Amino acid sequence: MTTHAKTPVDPAPSVPVGGAVGRPVDRRDGHAKVTGAARFSAEHHYPDLTYATMVHATIARGTITAIDTAAAVAVPGVVAVLTHLNAPRIRPVRKGNIVRDLGPSVSGTEVNYLNTDQVFWDGQPIAVVVAQTSVAANEAAPLVTVTYREQQARVDFAAEQHNATPAKGDLTFAGTKKKGDAEAALATAQVSVDLRYTTPGLQHNTIEPHATIAVWSGDHLTVHDTTQSTDASHKYLAWRFGVPAAQVRVRAEFVGGAFGGKFAVWPGTVIAAMAAKAVGRPVRLALSRKAVSRAAGGRTASTNRIALGATRDGRLTALIQDSITHVGSVGGLLEATSSPARHLYGAKNMLTRQNLVEMDLLPNTWLRAPGEAIGSFVLESAMDELAYELAMDPIDLRMRNEPATDPTSGKKFSQRMLREAFEAGAERFGWADRNPSPRSMRDGEWLVGMGAATAYHPVLRLVADVKVRLSNDGTALVQCGFHEMGMAAATVQAQIAADALGIAYEKVRVEYGDSDLPPGPMAGNSNQTATVATSVLAACAELTRKVTALARKTGTTGQEPAATLRAAHTPFLEASVGSTSRLGSLRSQGRFLATFLKDQRWSKAARGAQFCEVRVNADTGELRISRWLGMFDVGHIINPKTAASQLRGSIVMGIGMAMSEQTLVDPRNGRTMSAGLDSYYLPVHADIPPIDVAWLNEPDKSMPLGIIGLGEVGMTGVAAAIANAVYHATGRRIRDLPISLDKTL
Ligand code: MOS
Repeated sequence: MTTHAKTPVDPAPSVPVGGAVGRPVDRRDGHAKVTGAARFSAEHHYPDLTYATMVHATIARGTITAIDTAAAVAVPGVVAVLTHLNAPRIRPVRKGNIVRDLGPSVSGTEVNYLNTDQVFWDGQPIAVVVAQTSVAANEAAPLVTVTYREQQARVDFAAEQHNATPAKGDLTFAGTKKKGDAEAALATAQVSVDLRYTTPGLQHNTIEPHATIAVWSGDHLTVHDTTQSTDASHKYLAWRFGVPAAQVRVRAEFVGGAFGGKFAVWPGTVIAAMAAKAVGRPVRLALSRKAVSRAAGGRTASTNRIALGATRDGRLTALIQDSITHVGSVGGLLEATSSPARHLYGAKNMLTRQNLVEMDLLPNTWLRAPGEAIGSFVLESAMDELAYELAMDPIDLRMRNEPATDPTSGKKFSQRMLREAFEAGAERFGWADRNPSPRSMRDGEWLVGMGAATAYHPVLRLVADVKVRLSNDGTALVQCGFHEMGMAAATVQAQIAADALGIAYEKVRVEYGDSDLPPGPMAGNSNQTATVATSVLAACAELTRKVTALARKTGTTGQEPAATLRAAHTPFLEASVGSTSRLGSLRSQGRFLATFLKDQRWSKAARGAQFCEVRVNADTGELRISRWLGMFDVGHIINPKTAASQLRGSIVMGIGMAMSEQTLVDPRNGRTMSAGLDSYYLPVHADIPPIDVAWLNEPDKSMPLGIIGLGEVGMTGVAAAIANAVYHATGRRIRDLPISLDKTL
């Protein structure tokens, strides 16, 4: 029997039966997290545990010709130093795992760590020290000396851009999309802008850095890993290590933030499992922040041309967005930078193209609102610039171009209340008080500006297997291998299950974060809540049918479900959606396809209106954000407290992107210079104003309970709203993020 993560029961005042959905109940994982009771991946105890530290390559491209580990081995407490010369051989990465045009692969890169002498980026792990203590491992790792045969490397994004080629793929988020003749329409437009925007690379900087504990017992592997994809990760590890998937268990009960950075299996996880196999003892590999920056991908930098043409009364006739982003030579992901441009405004002629350039850098990966975070900065800044060209209110310009159907696909919107979001937001924020002239509002030495932008993130639903058990003591247990990364994932599913079963919220327990449970979806692309809810609702409906049938038999119709079970001397009843059997997994794939095709009938998205007020010091250029409002169109809200928290957290991330965050790569050698919080500037409390978030709470009729994923939409439009407000305050248009002091002066 295995044990799974259990949510403690909420100590909050009792929630009325049938009324859990829509209530602001506390996060179930909250208490454990703030009191230190939660155990994160690196915090599990095993007798005999060893500690590992990786050694990173210091060239961007080449071959290891010699590697000297003698000094490291001699450090007291060192158990082993593994390199490509002595590490266990494991199955190479399947090349097919890298699907750049569709999304990041489970294998973050194609590199066979410690099984190859080839180096593909500065920072690639090339050895690992295993020791009795982390102190010994950290002392020994820098003593490994490596000799390389270096090759010419492509590490300067600015210099490589001429090598970019259009990304392939014909899915809505990839490649090139054309409608009419946008260049011709732009050339003849009454009013137009043709602009260039850039964004830097970004890093996730989750509270909990990447960490793994790997434990082999015979040919069974248990991995505590901070991951947002236990199911994909356990299958991947099973394949790499050549054991059946049932013999690999990936556990991630608590995840201290992920934001897309913990979807792929990055080198630390594979190397920990490899090291544990080599030394025959459990291995803990907890990456330092510097190591995370060198060995786990972040967001690509981008360069974008955007051109908008319009009639004098503000109707878009041309929309062109041409973006360049980079991937690694051994993996990476196409950032869907055109995503907002393809779905937001009804331009007659459109051309959106995403170009990729391959570089000898750590492959990029998902980072919150991949594509949309960049694309919404570009599009929403340009819309503001066009509004000024037209001498029109920037919100009016947006509303004048509200499309009746999706501008690219022509599909109907399942839900679209952007107009209502802007109307309600403008009212609440006091947009009418804004004098539209740049540099017209002042408060002493502070120039005051107000900016707005549209938020946009598409809806994705994957597939989840769920098992629900109702016991005759009145409690229920929901099991699904989904992920709790701090967004109240388990809390909202307990709310949903309680109402679906007609029992008290406090009676529902949820188990998650474990590949031994019925497989859940990866937590990413804001899919998880709606995906799991789809299956929880189906399983609860099946269970309710079973209870009703039993009630009829026992003559207990109308009584609470547990009374029926007791009357029938039945300890519990269960219902499942999907299963882990081969047939069940085929069935799950079928369900995924059916849902996917159903969802494809609509253009579905989360949207919102971002409003901000900034103050820029007229003498020093210091930028302060003084007010924020996000008014969202994100479907039916299951838990107002945790939804507000998600939206607010995303806005904070957007503020970081706008004001200070950037991955700095040395253009001479490809080394990340901003590895660690001393050189990568995250916003701190003093940077964040009170953030007002609100929503329309209109259910999306095409989704279970009207749910629209809202994890990522909050980040979109944020950087543009700030840049637009800075322009309004100062008359200075900043087209290159971050908006640092040197640019506002
Ligand atoms: Mo999502 S890219 O996992 O925040």
